[in-house]
Amino acid sequence: MKKMYITTPIYYVNSVPHLGHAYTTIACDILARYYRSQGKDVRFLTGTDEHGANIEKSAAAKGVSPKAWTDEVSAKYRALWKTLNISYDSFIRTTDPAHEQVVQAIFEKLLKSGDIYLGSYSGKYCVSCEQYYDESEMGENCTCPVHKKPLTDVHEETYFFKLSRYEKPLLKYYEEHPDFLSPKTRANEIINFVKGGLRDLSVTRTKVKWGVPVKSNPAHTIYVWFDALINYISAAGAGMFLCDENKPLHEEKLSLIDAQDFNELWPADLHMVGKEIFRFHTVIWPAVLMALNLPLPHQVFAHGWWTVEGEKMSKTLGNVIDPAELGAKYGVDPVRAFLFREVPFGQDGDFSMTSFKNRYNADLANNIGNLLSRTLNMLAKQQPEIPAEIVLPAEVAQKIADTQTAIDAAYKQLAFDKVLELIYGFSSDLNKQVADTKPWELAKTDPEGARKILLELIGCQRKTAAWITPFMPTVGAEMTRRLAAGPIEKYAPLFPRIADK
Ligand code: ME8
Ligand code: MG
Repeated sequence: MKKMYITTPIYYVNSVPHLGHAYTTIACDILARYYRSQGKDVRFLTGTDEHGANIEKSAAAKGVSPKAWTDEVSAKYRALWKTLNISYDSFIRTTDPAHEQVVQAIFEKLLKSGDIYLGSYSGKYCVSCEQYYDESEMGENCTCPVHKKPLTDVHEETYFFKLSRYEKPLLKYYEEHPDFLSPKTRANEIINFVKGGLRDLSVTRTKVKWGVPVKSNPAHTIYVWFDALINYISAAGAGMFLCDENKPLHEEKLSLIDAQDFNELWPADLHMVGKEIFRFHTVIWPAVLMALNLPLPHQVFAHGWWTVEGEKMSKTLGNVIDPAELGAKYGVDPVRAFLFREVPFGQDGDFSMTSFKNRYNADLANNIGNLLSRTLNMLAKQQPEIPAEIVLPAEVAQKIADTQTAIDAAYKQLAFDKVLELIYGFSSDLNKQVADTKPWELAKTDPEGARKILLELIGCQRKTAAWITPFMPTVGAEMTRRLAAGPIEKYAPLFPRIADK
């Protein structure tokens, strides 16, 4: 049976993880948890991208070997994912020997098929991007359009991938698979880029030592992006049948198509990426897959970028947000939820503490948290226990069903902000209901009527608890526990208010 396979980018280990990396990873975690709750068999992959000149340089700057450096930083990513409660199923490192072997095997296969050939290259190169830029792309005075630093003249013998071969097949694929380029607002940029013509891509470096060597010509190492993109299939089990650690590679094993494990995963349902690496995932990667005769992922979704209080996050500005630190202060779950309520997924966003505190107090403390504690307190005055089964009136059951349908539709669009808006809206309607029906007053004249209202509120909040769980797994579980059948206890507030300062 085909599993649902979703991936994050694999993150560079040249600096430590921050809010931006957490954002993508939490997005995938929310999806993984949601689809698992829908009964889907999900495989959620993340990992670290560990080769290339930048990593070589950052290791040298620390005075440690690239291997020691990548071990250290890769571990920091895994530690952060643990703190943030990320339910990934596999974590790949591009320095895993199994991955490296798959990369080498694929390279040799494409060399054989003529999709990779040896040539030479003269051009302007940005060491930070690890990428050549032509005149139409570079900034003023031969500078990198991203880093604004002067580009370096490079002349080298290099292997090329015949990207130019895939111009028409790519355009055809985009047209026949309208969900592939997502969100739709970013599709035209890619289509126009491909229509503008694709040049063959240099896929090896002779100057970079920290990389996967070309098997048949080890003076070359494989370009970090070519190596990195392959993670999505090497982690899907291509490695298990492409190579046996103890035996040399067998060419006949390189037909990637018939291994059962691999077919259960591949093609991926979703590659989630930041907007700056959309092109790598929607032009180069599908072309490589076409060259390998492998099916293409169903969707690549590019989300926007976070700034902090209006500024780009950067070490020099000292404004890099550590999500673990924020989580330690205000709870991991509120941080997870905030990121997806604040900004429509796909758009850029700005992080500010003011906005975080406002949303925390409004959506969590005053809305969901307050409703829970007042309902439980009022019910405790009427009866000591919550019953297991609560039968909801037909119109309430209908409202829940309609909200569920809307939530499912929003998830399909990856409209996380809509999902949360629906959940918070459902909860604030319940709060209004409390204000309107005043069960605490009703209890004096009609205790049975008050009890009915309160039990209905409990039943509805069981739904809220289930709905918020993908965003706030710990809080969702705790809320579910408090609402479960059994004696009502005294509880601390779910979301203590953040004081205004
Ligand atoms: O690009 N806002 O790794 P990377 C939102 N190794 N998301 C952000 C962000 C921000 N300010 N900063 C980073 C690489 N991200 C390659 C990927 S995949 C085969 C290879 C997130 O460490 C976002 O997902 O630079 C972005 O695409 C990713 O981190 C880049 O991570
Ligand atoms: Mg980057």
